[in-house]
Amino acid sequence: MRENGVKLLVAGGAGFIGSNFIRYMLGAHEDWRIVNVDKLTYAGNLANLKDMEGDDRYGFVRADICDSARIGEIVAAERPDAIVNFAAETHVDRSIDDPSLFLRTNVLGTQVLLEEARRQGIGRYVQISTDEVYGSLGPQGKFTEESPLRPNSPYAASKTAGDLLARSWFKTYGVPAIVTRCSNNYGPFQFPEKLIPFFIAILRENKPVPVYGDGMNVRDWIHVDDHSRAIEAVLLGGRPGEIYNIGGGNERTNMEITKLLLSFLGKPESLMKFVADRPGHDRRYAIDDSKVRRELGVAPKVPFEEGLRETVRWYLENREWMHSVQSGEYLKFYEQWYSRQGRV
Ligand code: NAD
Ligand code: TYD
Repeated sequence: MRENGVKLLVAGGAGFIGSNFIRYMLGAHEDWRIVNVDKLTYAGNLANLKDMEGDDRYGFVRADICDSARIGEIVAAERPDAIVNFAAETHVDRSIDDPSLFLRTNVLGTQVLLEEARRQGIGRYVQISTDEVYGSLGPQGKFTEESPLRPNSPYAASKTAGDLLARSWFKTYGVPAIVTRCSNNYGPFQFPEKLIPFFIAILRENKPVPVYGDGMNVRDWIHVDDHSRAIEAVLLGGRPGEIYNIGGGNERTNMEITKLLLSFLGKPESLMKFVADRPGHDRRYAIDDSKVRRELGVAPKVPFEEGLRETVRWYLENREWMHSVQSGEYLKFYEQWYSRQGRV
């Protein structure tokens, strides 16, 4: 894809990764424009992009990606060079509690965007996906792009379906779709239901954090800016029809993450509480990212402990943001999930 004067349609740009990606891309490309199309669910927050509001290269449209008529109109009005789809329901625990919305947004919504990309001849489509589509690893080995798809949670299954739609729209209709599969992201503006911001929020109040099972499940953590850099490389140089794994090369058990958070916050280890495990809990994720390194020359840069320390500081310094997102609908889910499952 050309490098100058590009216009992107970013779906789901008010969430954690999408908002960081928009900020990163407008910082890196002076003559690019971005229109952010987001439904603003509980996880979408315009406060994540407050600093972009005065920037005339950035625009926001509130819309549901499942609404094909509306998405058709937006794509026709904006005429983007590329679509990058971050929009999704993303929390595994919520998908266990109620999978239906996950199927709607992550499957149907993806189909709507792909279909508009086809109908309106969009030059590039990037589907932002996850390593969770590969299922769970034992103690050895890593996921490659050829690993079998064995999703275990309703979230992962819905993301797998989205990936397969992207593949089929490429094979059948020639839509220039690319799928990226990234490991667990951390950084600022992550909704405090995911492990790291959730635990920071609880520990700040000196309450015990609920570690699922034995705490030995492993995730490969990547800083959100490293994820943005990899998506940028895929957007500019990736080959249509291909899949690119993106990883941090940073495998940590949940117990290790919890201990790091406790130490950065100066809290005692007695605040670590082991609770009932998540049903179908994947044991280990690890990414082989040699393809994206080899073909597109990108690799993660942020040293993990430095990035995590900085992230903890960001949440401590942005109490207002934390407070504004920790209300209403979120609180209802939190109370019901952690008490009904006998977790707290
Ligand atoms: P998030 O939950 O923080 O944000 C999701 C965004 O999508 C929100 O702004 C929400 O309002 C929007 N959205 C949801 N349903 C929508 C709909 N029907 N129409 C329009 N907008 C809608 O998620 P995130 O962590 O930023 O993840 C973004 C993408 O990256 C997702 O596709 C996710 O599967 C993928 N991913 C996330 C991670 C991670 O660690 N967070 C890792 C790998 C891949
Ligand atoms: P999460 O942030 O939900 O991401 P994902 O399930 O998509 O990897 O969880 C990361 C890990 O942390 C996962 O192994 C589950 C675990 N976890 C807990 O132990 N306690 C919690 O309260 C949460 C939310 C997660």
